[in-house]
Amino acid sequence: MTSTAPVTVTVTGAAGQIAYSLLFRLAAGEVYGADTPIRLRLLEIPSAVGAAEGVAMELDDCAFPTLASIDITDEPNAGFEGANAAFLVGAKPRGKGMERADLLTANGAIFRDQGKAINDHAAQDVRVLVVGNPANTNAYIAHRHAPDVPAGRFTALMRLDHNRALSQLATRLGAPVGELDGAVVWGNHSATQFPDVSYLTRRGEPVTAGIGETWLTDTFIPKVAKRGAEIIAVRGSSSAASAAGASIDHMRDWVQGTPGDSWTTVALPSGGQYGTVEGVVTGLPCRSRGDEWEVVEGLEISDFQRARIDASVAELVEERDAVQGLGLV
Ligand code: NAD
Ligand code: LMR
Repeated sequence: MTSTAPVTVTVTGAAGQIAYSLLFRLAAGEVYGADTPIRLRLLEIPSAVGAAEGVAMELDDCAFPTLASIDITDEPNAGFEGANAAFLVGAKPRGKGMERADLLTANGAIFRDQGKAINDHAAQDVRVLVVGNPANTNAYIAHRHAPDVPAGRFTALMRLDHNRALSQLATRLGAPVGELDGAVVWGNHSATQFPDVSYLTRRGEPVTAGIGETWLTDTFIPKVAKRGAEIIAVRGSSSAASAAGASIDHMRDWVQGTPGDSWTTVALPSGGQYGTVEGVVTGLPCRSRGDEWEVVEGLEISDFQRARIDASVAELVEERDAVQGLGLV
């Protein structure tokens, strides 16, 4: 039995790999809870609408008590009509040997058009999560085409990098993931990202032993930063269920709030915090109390951190300049 007002959630790329995991968890109530009915809007390209219809049939067959309705369309304005949340997943994934930025030309225009449609058709409280790569700069493009939507409502997925960092740290320290807090991944969802353990705690106490500088710089940072490429090499296609899981985590924490004092990593248009360049969509430590993401302020930054953050933000500036050159913003 559900009781609160229904929410409308748009998922693009609904016939793709990530959506095949994401949609079922969303429809089961993992973001909004068991009391909130979900009206799904699935947006696909015309050639994939048939496959999206098949996914909708399977969603129906799950008989989720929280799933109120499903609409399928290939028209962005209809797809974002009244959306309270939008998962922008639909885009081409990279193949072996490609960097995510190589997808800018192929995918950038999708986010220009969807940004406009969100601006004109989504609900006033819309929360946008861009998953399609290169996620940070695609979110930047969409945000720039939605002048009526507050900048902080456009976010990009770096929760996957955050979760990857936690998992590597848990293994290294022999600790359950749930005991660790205070990780953050600065910069771009790319090989330049900086997974940072400077504020790491275990059960609330700073972690002072067990990590080691060599492991940190030679193993941990490159392992997390290049995990997407490793998955492609081993699995043969890009991460899907883990990306869906991180997308659920991101939107659930945004809607329901991050637990206690803990924070997570969110990529959002920078307000210039921690010396990052205003406007580019960068990973920052964030908390939510159930409404807006708030950037955690006042953390000390060492020279080592400064250099790593600056390098990744410089790449975001290059991508921003590239999309300007392509006429996408
Ligand atoms: P996929 O190829 O399996 O599915 C993509 C779907 O998007 C397809 O069904 C396609 O028809 C659809 N699509 C293409 N253009 C569209 C448009 N204009 N409107 C609506 N739908 C459209 O790919 P996937 O594995 O689901 O990955 C999707 C994207 O997510 C890729 O760009 C991938 O690189 C990215 N990704 C990001 C992260 C992250 O952490 N940010 C993690 C994993 C994957
Ligand atoms: C990931 O990090 O797994 C995704 O962004 C897919 C990719 O291209 O790496």
